[in-house]
Amino acid sequence: SPSAPLRLCVNARPCEVAAAPETALLHVLRNDLELNGPKYGCGLGECGACTVLIDGVAARSCVIPVRSAQGREVTTLEGLGTRQQPGPTQQAFINCQAAQCGYCLNGMIMTVEALLRRNPHPSEQELRNELHHNLCRCGTHVEIMQAALQAVH
Ligand code: FES
Repeated sequence: SPSAPLRLCVNARPCEVAAAPETALLHVLRNDLELNGPKYGCGLGECGACTVLIDGVAARSCVIPVRSAQGREVTTLEGLGTRQQPGPTQQAFINCQAAQCGYCLNGMIMTVEALLRRNPHPSEQELRNELHHNLCRCGTHVEIMQAALQAVH
């Protein structure tokens, strides 16, 4: 039935949400679970602002129905670290002051994190290829690449 709760595991925490199964995962994360790490950019799977990890792999949560995240491990920016104790990828982006408006940045961090989980020592070209489909309107790609390179080391 549409009212049956969905069981999710987000940032290593099991939870239940009362959302329609076709609801975009992004909306459940933001509206039901109050995780605002993933951002709403295009809503079409094109900009990468909403990127989360599903079973460790980068996924665009604006185009993924919440039902398909059931039984899988969802990780948002909040799952990588805290303000007091940022994770290594987050710390690299902080060190490099990579944000301008900052809207795209969480998705960039999640994309780099996903790459590092499957390939701990990517080349600059591999980082570039990975970030190629994350859009930044401010044009802060130089700083973002510095941060991504620092995250590798
Ligand atoms: Fe999901 Fe743009 S908001 S890709």
